[in-house]
Amino acid sequence: MSKITAIINQKGGVGKTTTALNLSYALSQKDRKVLLVDFDPQASLTTALNVNSEDTSPNIYSLMLQSIEEKQLDKNTIIQINDNLDLIPGSLDLAAIEMNLVNVMSRELVLKCIIEEFKDNYDYVIIDCSPSLGMLTVNALSASDSVLIPVTPEFLSARGLKYLSNSIRLIKRKLNPKLIVDGVLITMANERTKLAKEMIEHINNGAEHLLSEIGSKIKVFENIIPISIKMGEAITNKQSIIEYNPKNKVSESYIKFAEEWEDL
Ligand SMILES: Nc1ncnc2c1ncn2[C@@H]1O[C@H](COP(=O)(O)OP(=O)(O)OP(=O)(O)O)[C@@H](O)[C@H]1O
Ligand SMILES: [Mg+2]
Repeated sequence: MSKITAIINQKGGVGKTTTALNLSYALSQKDRKVLLVDFDPQASLTTALNVNSEDTSPNIYSLMLQSIEEKQLDKNTIIQINDNLDLIPGSLDLAAIEMNLVNVMSRELVLKCIIEEFKDNYDYVIIDCSPSLGMLTVNALSASDSVLIPVTPEFLSARGLKYLSNSIRLIKRKLNPKLIVDGVLITMANERTKLAKEMIEHINNGAEHLLSEIGSKIKVFENIIPISIKMGEAITNKQSIIEYNPKNKVSESYIKFAEEWEDL
């Protein structure tokens, strides 16, 4: 059975794409079969994997159109990254999909139908979401078994988790009762500063009551992803940090986090 997980946070720049990439990469190194879905019109995951998101080759947008028009899904859309890791590339056109969805029956379930068709080949399907709670993210949450929420230590002060938990609650009630929250992953933490330490405690204490309306206890993962200037070099090299520098503290944290996440 495959597990489908959406990586969400409506706040931009909290490490969603970095987490999608490195969690998937760490899992693929453990011989798990992983399908990454770039479901963000910014297509940064696709770019990070050195795949072109600007040409007319098949991508998640073309799959969505095929699904809406009830055509056969083009299996060639899936790109092999390594032996265990595949990608459905993102597309800048995805920003326009909401227009195409206006008159579609079950428009919240288009991505779910696509993933249903491919998921049996994989242990994990990981969806990198855009920083919004619009129709794209609703599609991702409807298609998923679980959500993973990366947050930076500063995020909680913006009360963003409360909006997020409300959206998850609505999706659970209306569209996907089985959706669960895997937990909150703290990213880009600078453990040396007192501020960050206090913030991390704040998240640990706050996540439970802020998200309690979802109906279950929310885990804050023990593994915290530190901030590292080496990230920039990995990006320039179009590699995940684990591939670029496996001994880097961010790489080690993501590898340990992948263990923790798998053992949930
Ligand atoms: N642990 C880290 N150390 C240093 N830089 C990081 C780390 N994690 C992510 N970054 C950088 O922070 C920026 C934002 O990260 P990322 O793109 O993963 O966030 P995002 O939540 O996907 O953003 P968006 O909401 O725009 O999709 C990127 O430039 C990324 O390289
Ligand atoms: Mg992103």
